[in-house]
Amino acid sequence: MDHGLGLLLSCFFIVFSSLFIFSEAQLAPALFMFGDSLVDVGNNNHLKLSLAKADFPHNGVDFPGKKPTGRFCNGKNAADFLAEKLGLPSAPPYLSLISKSNLSNASFVAGVSFASGGAGIFDGTDALYKQSLPLKKQVAYYATVYERLVQQLGSAGAQEHLSKSVFAVVIGSNDILGYYGSDSSTRNKTAPQQFVDSMAATLKEQLKGMYNLGARKFAMVGVGAVGCCPSQRNKKSTEECSEEANYWSVKYNERLKSLLQELISELKGMSYSYFDTYSVMLNLIQKPAAYGFKEVKAACCGLGNLNADFPCLPISTYCSNRKDHVFWDLYHPTEAAASIVVQNIFNGTQEYTFPMNLRQLVAA
Ligand SMILES: *[C@@H]1O[C@H](CO)[C@@H](O)[C@H](O)[C@H]1NC(C)=O
Ligand SMILES: *[C@@H]1O[C@H](CO)[C@@H](O)[C@H](O)[C@H]1NC(C)=O
Ligand SMILES: *[C@@H]1O[C@H](CO)[C@@H](O)[C@H](O)[C@H]1NC(C)=O
Ligand SMILES: *[C@@H]1O[C@H](CO)[C@@H](O)[C@H](O)[C@H]1NC(C)=O
Repeated sequence: MDHGLGLLLSCFFIVFSSLFIFSEAQLAPALFMFGDSLVDVGNNNHLKLSLAKADFPHNGVDFPGKKPTGRFCNGKNAADFLAEKLGLPSAPPYLSLISKSNLSNASFVAGVSFASGGAGIFDGTDALYKQSLPLKKQVAYYATVYERLVQQLGSAGAQEHLSKSVFAVVIGSNDILGYYGSDSSTRNKTAPQQFVDSMAATLKEQLKGMYNLGARKFAMVGVGAVGCCPSQRNKKSTEECSEEANYWSVKYNERLKSLLQELISELKGMSYSYFDTYSVMLNLIQKPAAYGFKEVKAACCGLGNLNADFPCLPISTYCSNRKDHVFWDLYHPTEAAASIVVQNIFNGTQEYTFPMNLRQLVAA
């Protein structure tokens, strides 16, 4: 090969690789994910006793390699899309990292996910699913990751790294579903207003704990219209959304918004983007055609009325038109719905994001 061609090829390679780097621009050094099954990417695969599992078909039917990974979805979930938007690899499940290696040699530099199906803000919320990583436990695991990062990067290095990283929190649906899912004899005796106030107060303590361990930029995802999940519609003969569950989802979100305002005045250097999942989800349900959906009531995968009598199990049936469905199973959105939600978290207008969207949060 003559030098001219070699030079041409290496120039081409440089141009090509810089284009590649440009298109994959990292907007934040790391994503630390906290939450429930809406963003679980496989932590629960490692919880022997948990009933909240999705590491079997037909989950993952549209995932690369058609693999059931533990995501409660036909394909990628909101955690994957969030990472993609930030130009990062999907944050791996914490429990898979520590099972493969051990804390002293695992790398958490690009982020990690603590999200766990069935998890709630309250430790007791996962009783229905026997086992999960409740938020408090997720934050305790993050504390070990923080120590590891300090060892690797030094104290100042870790602070700098974490101050630019995104801490995404998607939690609260299970607490509300647990409250309204149970009949009045087993329902938590707390009055609903006190229940949602207490959710917010408990969350606030955990957010402070994360701040004390270097977290500065918070992507706070509000609770969706949980009353419109196929599981809740299935309880009504009319198949309408549960107005009660929706009402208290809105009330909780209001408390969440005000606690975030309180926190930024208490915690120096903290910033956040709050996302109004509730309104976006209601939009998808009320104007499905505008977003390319046709089925907003029934789950794609399941059995029985609205495919909501049973979860998505190997014996369940599943639909072929998954892009038309808002819900994959009785609780969780399809990949198509999750993608629209994350597009709005990242670059939504002030109608849905407050006081800024995630794109603005990472740029600030
Ligand atoms: C970490 O250490 C464990 C046990 O010493 C080993 O089995 C594993 O392969 C290591 N992982 C990495 C990523 O080096
Ligand atoms: C964990 O990893 C470190 C470093 O690779 C190694 O020295 C240690 O023996 C490992 N511990 C266990 C329990 O595997
Ligand atoms: C019931 O609600 C209270 C908050 O009002 C909470 O502290 C408690 O943990 C809840 N109990 C369960 C079992 O979830
Ligand atoms: C963000 O939204 C604005 C319009 O609101 C649009 O012009 C811009 O291209 C979007 N950017 C990205 C990265 O999606």
